[in-house]
Amino acid sequence: MYLFAHFSRFCAGIGGLMSKNIAILASGNGTNAENIIRYFQNSESVNIGLVLANRETALVLERARSLNVPFACMGKTEWVDGTAVLALLEERGIDFIVLAGFLARIPDCILHAYPNKIINIHPSLLPKFGGKGMYGDRVHEAVVAAGETETGITIHYLNEHFDEGEVIVQYRCPVLPQDTAEDVAKKVHALEYEYYPQVIERLLSEMC
Ligand code: GAR
Repeated sequence: MYLFAHFSRFCAGIGGLMSKNIAILASGNGTNAENIIRYFQNSESVNIGLVLANRETALVLERARSLNVPFACMGKTEWVDGTAVLALLEERGIDFIVLAGFLARIPDCILHAYPNKIINIHPSLLPKFGGKGMYGDRVHEAVVAAGETETGITIHYLNEHFDEGEVIVQYRCPVLPQDTAEDVAKKVHALEYEYYPQVIERLLSEMC
């Protein structure tokens, strides 16, 4: 126990000194991706090495282009197999992977290559309103339809099952009786923008 605590402190110490190279994976609009890129723009300890999408039309690619961040897109076949995606991540020296509205399944070979180094953000308080097919506005619509009085965000490690990896942290916001799904989306996005970059920064500073 003592050794573990000591080792964690040691990692946090040297982790702070070495720059980490992260990849952001996104499928659509990419407002979270842009927010994370801007947060780390002048960072000496975190570099956004790659924005990776699974759709050519994903707006996140335009955002990466205009922010001068390297970007790429891999098609369905590559995401099913995983070999080419993993090769790209390794070629770019990626240490840590952040999912920000990424909707495809992460192949097992990537999960194995990055143990506890892939995180996701989900726009509800998991395990509520999670699982396959639950993403983006669908989640907020379900929250309103269920008459929930609160919702929020969950930041969690990734495993082989959708939205079931170990929870790192959750943040909450109220859902008022008159709130529409759009109102809820605004509150949830505000939590995402405030907390996701901070949590990424903390995890990276603790990483060896
Ligand atoms: C975010 O709200 C994120 O939590 C959600 O997709 C949205 C992407 O928005 N992710 C999921 O639903 C994953 N199951 P953005 O493209 O504007 O960042």
